[in-house]
Amino acid sequence: MKTNLKNVSLRILLIVNASILTVPTFASSEIDTLTASCSACHGADGVAPSSDWPSLAGQKQGYLLAQLKAFKSGHRTNVLMDNQLSNKSEADLVKIAQHYASLSFKKAESTSINKDGENVRASCLSCHGMIGKTVNETWPNLAGQNQGYLLKQLKDFSSKKRDSMIMNVIASELTEQEMKDVAQYYEQIGSEY
Ligand code: HEC
Ligand code: HEC
Repeated sequence: MKTNLKNVSLRILLIVNASILTVPTFASSEIDTLTASCSACHGADGVAPSSDWPSLAGQKQGYLLAQLKAFKSGHRTNVLMDNQLSNKSEADLVKIAQHYASLSFKKAESTSINKDGENVRASCLSCHGMIGKTVNETWPNLAGQNQGYLLKQLKDFSSKKRDSMIMNVIASELTEQEMKDVAQYYEQIGSEY
């Protein structure tokens, strides 16, 4: 009798377990599946948990698509990003860019603003906008972006590790201190997308 009961409860346990295991496959939408592997570094809501990684929520769609293509083709490289897109089609990349661009992102303005960074910004605003938001679909917003990430991009542009005709010139004209100040400034002003 005891053994029978054990068998029955074991069988119930197995059935319950099996149904729990199959639920996520049915519940996840196509975009959830496409972006599942991205969440660890870019956040499920597109807001990165580390200052060294970029938030993607609210970023310009055309810009995101260009970067996704650049990583996939190997034109832009990074140890953490290389191979992330190898199993994605061009149509997948369009959907991913559309998805992250559509997510809202709110970051409050910091209580202190780096004034030296604000001065450096004078040479950035013609393209990145008065408040770090661009009017051009293919140019990135900077407002609210993580400063560790922004600083690394400026250094990569300056050393030409990251290729951009415009930014290679602009970044090479900045001192390291100016890069730090302006990266901090753009994170501190926060944003709402
Ligand atoms: C292991 C961590 C990690 C994972 C997983 C990851 N990324 Fe990234 N991603 C990064 C890092 C780090 C960078 C910044 C690279 C650099 O410094 O140039 C980046 C950069 C990007 C950028 C460029 C952002 C910008 O502002 O230029 C896009 C777009 C992007 N990732 C999309 C994705 C997508 C889509 C996925 C999933 C398919 C993904 N990433 C998975 C770490 C990751
Ligand atoms: C003439 C237009 C122009 C000006 C001026 C300009 N930028 Fe850019 N910036 C761009 C473009 C275009 C890109 C995208 C480059 C690419 O395609 O990889 C970019 C990219 C960037 C990125 C990378 C963002 C990301 O998400 O990876 C940073 C950081 C940046 N710019 C900072 C600055 C700073 C700081 C200044 C001022 C000192 C500045 N830019 C001035 C056009 C400009």
